[in-house]
Amino acid sequence: MVDLSIDFCGIKSPNPFWLASGPPTNSGDQVSRAFEAGWGGAVWKTLGNPVVNLNSRYGAFRGERGRILGFNNIELISDRGLSVNLREMAEVKRRYPDHALIASVMAGDKDEWQELIRRVEDTGVDGLELNFSCPHGMCERGLGSAVGQEPAVATKITRWVKECTALPTIVKFTPNVADICDQGRAAVTGGADGAALINTIKSIVGVDLDDFIPFPKLRNGSTNGGYCGAAIKPIALHMVASLARQPWFSLPISGIGGIGGWRDCAEFIALGCTSVQVCAAVMQHGFGIVKQMSEGLSAYLQEKSMASPAALRGKALANYKEWGELDMNYKVVATIDEAACIGCNSCYTACNDGAYQAIVHSSRTTESGKPIPSILAQRCTGCNLCSLVCPVHCITMTDISETDTVESWQDIVARGGYVVTDGIKK
Ligand SMILES: Cc1cc2nc3c(=O)[nH]c(=O)nc-3n(C[C@H](O)[C@H](O)[C@H](O)COP(=O)(O)O)c2cc1C
Repeated sequence: MVDLSIDFCGIKSPNPFWLASGPPTNSGDQVSRAFEAGWGGAVWKTLGNPVVNLNSRYGAFRGERGRILGFNNIELISDRGLSVNLREMAEVKRRYPDHALIASVMAGDKDEWQELIRRVEDTGVDGLELNFSCPHGMCERGLGSAVGQEPAVATKITRWVKECTALPTIVKFTPNVADICDQGRAAVTGGADGAALINTIKSIVGVDLDDFIPFPKLRNGSTNGGYCGAAIKPIALHMVASLARQPWFSLPISGIGGIGGWRDCAEFIALGCTSVQVCAAVMQHGFGIVKQMSEGLSAYLQEKSMASPAALRGKALANYKEWGELDMNYKVVATIDEAACIGCNSCYTACNDGAYQAIVHSSRTTESGKPIPSILAQRCTGCNLCSLVCPVHCITMTDISETDTVESWQDIVARGGYVVTDGIKK
């Protein structure tokens, strides 16, 4: 049996699935419903000095058929009264003692930070998350990402917090920097107990081409916001791995950015995370997605004979190498499953115009009479592009590194490929 429970720098959670600080964690009612749905933990919407939020505040970046690839937002921290938030947090912690409840906090000077922490401590929360990462609205006031971007300031504030509390303290990093490791060093030096990354990425999701106002639109214009959702996952994975692979970095990491399913969770854990946090996917699909995450991750761990997420943690890190360490002798070529090909020409166009001109049309056709493409095996650089653009996944990349070169070309010809000799197709 798989045990999904985790211990994140002393914060116990029945599973690694936490809600990230944001709209889904804005109230006690929401966090309670999330815990009932199966979430193991929640980071409350950031608490701080009172703010007033704008009305139109979310925008979306859409892909094919209107599918949302990412959200952008210009929302600030919690605009509810601090005492209301604190009362609801205490109530949630009392009702769900075995779930992880973390307070995200943001303040200005030392007195403000320490006063806020003392008030938050009284709620009985399991830990703190220091918001050094909000990239809009707050950073203009010297808070949020303005702190994460100044490692010395981040260290100083982390020390102020650690000075006044024994609560496990997580620092949340901004991706709006050149090197994420600078914040890692600042967190370690300041005495943090854990790291959470990433917050949103500075962005403009689009422009209305009639009135020329970027989205999300307000009457008199718009501003840059924070980008999140599936589109940012690759950036988040890279930042998590960049930090987790550092020999000097041993704090537990809570991975955030574009997580929406159990595979995303497993990938973040394989790159070194202890817990994962989700915001955009819940904003779009609701708390119920945790069921699939939980069942999927359990089944995967069981299949791999891993008793817990800890067994998976960091498994992919050794395989994340420097470019110069990669195998120059690894050779793959594209092969097309002609029976599955629909003759759409996508691979031909991509290869011919966008890559290395290694695909031609053969004389064979699909049932509907469209020409089936064929690989010029000796010209194929194994770049993967054709297999990536193929809408029916009928192109696979075949490893020929270990096979005798001449024979392998013959195999490819036997499968319908051409061999180019002295520029003549045979
Ligand atoms: C509308 C919105 C509000 C957010 N508010 C906060 C916040 O108050 N504090 C915080 O630390 N992060 C905040 N975030 C960032 C999320 O916690 C998370 O880091 C980010 O959205 C990336 O994760 P995702 O791709 O799962 O959404 C907010 C995100 C969104 C979309």
